[in-house]
Amino acid sequence: MPWHRKHLLTIEDLSRAEIEQLLATAGAFRRILDRKVKKVPALRGKTIVNFFLEPSTRTRISFEMAAKLLSADVISFDAATSSTSKGETLRDTAQNIQALNADMIVLRHSASGSPLYLSRVLDIPVINAGDGAHEHPTQALLDVFTMREKLGDLQGRKVVILGDILFSRVARSNIHALTKLGADVTIVGPSTLVPHWFEAMGVKVSHNLRSALADADVVMLLRIQHERQASSHFPSLGEYTSMFGLNKTRAGWLKPDAIIMHPGPINRGVEIDSDLADSPRSVILQQVTNGIAVRMAALYLCAGGQPEAVLTPA
Ligand code: CP
Repeated sequence: MPWHRKHLLTIEDLSRAEIEQLLATAGAFRRILDRKVKKVPALRGKTIVNFFLEPSTRTRISFEMAAKLLSADVISFDAATSSTSKGETLRDTAQNIQALNADMIVLRHSASGSPLYLSRVLDIPVINAGDGAHEHPTQALLDVFTMREKLGDLQGRKVVILGDILFSRVARSNIHALTKLGADVTIVGPSTLVPHWFEAMGVKVSHNLRSALADADVVMLLRIQHERQASSHFPSLGEYTSMFGLNKTRAGWLKPDAIIMHPGPINRGVEIDSDLADSPRSVILQQVTNGIAVRMAALYLCAGGQPEAVLTPA
């Protein structure tokens, strides 16, 4: 099946077949990287602008690495020293970047829907690198890519997402991806951060950590996203940790082969104890590494590449 999307805005938009195409293309790039190939010429002559208006370490660097591995030129937009600080709008800034002959924009923004908005006012592809509490599609893709590496097919696998679901774009994108791939998702945390209306997304809602962890194949931890909370949704961080933080005792409720995931950044000692973050069952750094191949796939396909060209090289 040919790839026909110009933008990658949400996982919700994608069919299961499109998710499979992205994952298969990422797998092909991963195998190329594993052979220590320094670069592939797929995007030679293209210029990609990393347009990040919120802080980022993993996503920004891995998009930059992915673009360079595809032989594209990359410009990382520095919000602090740009003319956005003089009041220039998102639309004007993006249209100026396009007028400077950028071929693609990777956008991170605090406003939900901003990548969709840019996709409507620009002619070039837009990739969502996280928009408010809405979606973070490449994070979910690298998460399911990592789960499949560890567990194989996700059909019927039990995934627990634990923490601040309400304000999490990672949770929303993962819920869409995992349910489309047939996983059985349970979201867990305080009722203020894990409301029952999430059930409409096809997940179970639980406030009982012990029973949720007991049959999980994966536990994905999320940090508390203070930057998006206008008021506190629980009495104190200490109380959150005492009720829902993953510690050694609670990890003992997991099956021995269950894996621990976290999109980062980690708040050690809050949502996860340091020992567990660094334990053999943690795949947190493998998630980060897989982000490069996944973002290569997203850039390559949205630039007009076809999965077959990398899956069956001439
Ligand atoms: N997971 C994630 O989006 O991390 P960064 O904010 O560091 O990019």
